[in-house]
Amino acid sequence: MNVLAINSSARVGKGSKTEIMLEPLVQGMRDAGALVEVVNLVDRNIKTCIGCFTCMTKTPGVCILKDDMTRELFPKWLEADIVVYATPLFYHTVNATMKTFLERTFPVALPFLEFHEEDGRWHHPLRHKAPKSVFLSVCGFPASSAFDALRHYVNYLFGAGSQNVLAEIYRDGAEGMLYEKKLLDEITSATRDAGRQLIEEGAIRPETMETIEQPVVSDFALSTEIANCAWRTCIADGITLQEFQDQGMSPRPDTLDSYLAIMRMGFNPKGAVGKKAVLQFNFTGSVEDTCQLVIDDGSIKAIPGAPEKPDLTIMTPFDLWADIVAGRADGQQMFMERKYNVEGDPELLIQFGQFFNRPE
Ligand SMILES: Cc1cc2nc3c(=O)[nH]c(=O)nc-3n(C[C@H](O)[C@H](O)[C@H](O)COP(=O)(O)O)c2cc1C
Repeated sequence: MNVLAINSSARVGKGSKTEIMLEPLVQGMRDAGALVEVVNLVDRNIKTCIGCFTCMTKTPGVCILKDDMTRELFPKWLEADIVVYATPLFYHTVNATMKTFLERTFPVALPFLEFHEEDGRWHHPLRHKAPKSVFLSVCGFPASSAFDALRHYVNYLFGAGSQNVLAEIYRDGAEGMLYEKKLLDEITSATRDAGRQLIEEGAIRPETMETIEQPVVSDFALSTEIANCAWRTCIADGITLQEFQDQGMSPRPDTLDSYLAIMRMGFNPKGAVGKKAVLQFNFTGSVEDTCQLVIDDGSIKAIPGAPEKPDLTIMTPFDLWADIVAGRADGQQMFMERKYNVEGDPELLIQFGQFFNRPE
């Protein structure tokens, strides 16, 4: 079985989520004995269709443009048994690179118009048998509805309920999925199973699909607060998202809400089993406010306002604490240098590292 996998992400080799999903899919297909060629469109020169219709009449089935599509990719596309279209979701649909590729498969069609009773739509008949398709897309928004327009498009492109589409794999929240290693492993391992199943069984089993497309976010409000804070950190530092990710940086809190969200997200329940602590923070400087972290046997409440009886009160400039939380300053060192003060049980300060995952 010949498979051609077309990847239209421009970020191949730079943490591309399309690539992170395509790799195990292809691996699974190879495990099952398929011959798979992966083509990264970022390395190819494909001109946009100029709409001349020459391929319909004067040069039947052959495009007049001279580039990698005419010379190499369209013949390979025609010969493939299955084509995997892997694309990041841009503006609710395939990205422009994938769209250009798809449009350049136009020479497969005849110019005539045919009405198909089964889907109630007009179609061009094909001059050659088209390969079966697998659609794979990833997107940033953590909601499967982000793919609604693409689903509709794929359905239109290949015909309603068409036997031609073997599978559609849509992974939302793909940027966020990287931060949860266990989840990422589960998703990529199921994607490899999916590749195997596509070759051996011609479809992806529903339970495999469920694992691949499982929600990556359990608390939408919390995740968006942190994502927005990460973006503000990039803007404040004048760096790209890629640089933020490559350097393993953490969002630096800049508001009370973002601080509370980061503490909730970074809480390590295992480190707080059997522990009880009420921590009060009195912030000064860029954020003048008070908040509390209530740790109770593996659970945390991070809320604004002062508690009745804190076990420990930390009085600190907000910016200094933000640097400590983001791993840019050492909490112990800052304490020794009296950059912030505490009242109450200082032992809790030492335990802080157990209660919260440190930025890597
Ligand atoms: C121009 C542009 C448009 C995008 N449009 C959407 C969108 O409509 N919906 C969405 O959820 N994510 C959108 N995203 C986010 C990408 O789908 C997401 O970052 C994806 O992981 C990129 O894949 P890659 O890492 O393979 O490049 C967009 C990103 C860019 C750069």
